[in-house]
Amino acid sequence: MKKLLVTGGAGFIGANFVHYWMNKYSADKVVVLDALTYAGNIANLDSVKDEANFTFVHGNICDQVLIEKLLVEHGIDTLVHFAAESHVDRSITGPDAFIETNIMGTYSLLKAAKKVWLDGAFNDGKVLEEHRFHHVSTDEVYGTLSPTDPAFTEDTAYAPNSPYSASKAASDHLVRAYHHTYGLNVTTSNCSNNYGPFHFPEKLIPLVITNILHDKALPIYGDGQQIRDWLYVEDHAYGIDLVLQNGRIGENYNIGGDNEWANIDIVKTISKLVEQEFVKNKDLGIRFPTAKAAMAQNTESLITYVKDRLGHDRRYAIDATKTNNELNYQPKESFETGIAKTVAWYLNNEEWWKSVMDGSYQNWIAEQYS
Ligand code: NAD
Ligand code: DAU
Repeated sequence: MKKLLVTGGAGFIGANFVHYWMNKYSADKVVVLDALTYAGNIANLDSVKDEANFTFVHGNICDQVLIEKLLVEHGIDTLVHFAAESHVDRSITGPDAFIETNIMGTYSLLKAAKKVWLDGAFNDGKVLEEHRFHHVSTDEVYGTLSPTDPAFTEDTAYAPNSPYSASKAASDHLVRAYHHTYGLNVTTSNCSNNYGPFHFPEKLIPLVITNILHDKALPIYGDGQQIRDWLYVEDHAYGIDLVLQNGRIGENYNIGGDNEWANIDIVKTISKLVEQEFVKNKDLGIRFPTAKAAMAQNTESLITYVKDRLGHDRRYAIDATKTNNELNYQPKESFETGIAKTVAWYLNNEEWWKSVMDGSYQNWIAEQYS
């Protein structure tokens, strides 16, 4: 039985991981630590929040004393670190929070883990031999690819281009150094773009779905030919699970679905899927009367080319051969099934995305935690 501390567990991937884990390993104890920034939503954990083996802690990963307390009081042996500022556009307009959370926050977690697990500071100097610090990173640390370059492997040199990816790269290096220098049992996974339920609607896929429903423009940065490698979020959770069970200490594992799409094609695919849903389900036309699909009009006409993202990476692609071979990893979801599930989730969870978009959730958080 494991005792997990999941940082950022109220965010998109963290919450999906918590659902995955509690469903599969129902005897394990899960503690979520989350600062509930604009991207964190406690409602993402509604279905598990009353379970006896689940605890939610509202707090910041930069608070080393709090982390030490949680590790000791809950007897944590496994730390899965998702908490981060994650949106590239926000890192371009305001990098400070990225440096603070992604670098200093990771450093604070590493210091706490070393003190509690390796130094035995609260246990008469006894080392906790069976411990794991798993760091969730991204393919963006490898930089950008041309259309003909081979995909990123774990040996690709780091070349981060945005303040976001630079902050993630810095945290990856700190994690690596804590293993090399102090012997902390670490693993790191570098995953490609995720999509699925609870994805905050500032990111491309949920933004496009919700904008179509509101008859708003679908902004395409630059020429729309940038390529991303999309993975259904539950398959990311499954990959981390395999790394936690069988990954070698000190190693990095790439996780991806071998599923490259140009942005413009993703947007057109989603437009068609939403239109088909409106044809199948007449109730959608009543719920979203201003949507073009409600009037049997072409949704693609909402596509609007806008100014490109500064320093926009052209292409990401993950070569997951190591993870596939060593850990027997294969994604379970095809893009066809994953994107259909995702569109259905947004159509069925209007209350969720409306609350995170209109600020009422943020106001509620401010009241709860002021
Ligand atoms: P997200 O922005 O949806 O969620 C981040 C969570 O971290 C939120 O719940 C937020 O409240 C919390 N958080 C932020 N700052 C915090 C702090 N200082 N202390 C405690 N909690 C804090 O992000 P996501 O998309 O779920 O990404 C999770 C992790 O996975 C990140 O580390 C990201 O770099 C990585 N990743 C994301 C993707 C992707 O496609 N989204 C792909 C690969 C890797
Ligand atoms: O590759 C993994 C990364 O994927 C993660 O590390 C990041 O946390 C995550 O946010 C994501 O980064 P991207 O920048 O790739 O995701 P985003 O959804 O912001 O954008 C996807 C692509 O779509 C990118 O090329 C920019 C483009 N885009 C995005 C938005 C929001 C648009 O063309 N229009 C938009 O409005």
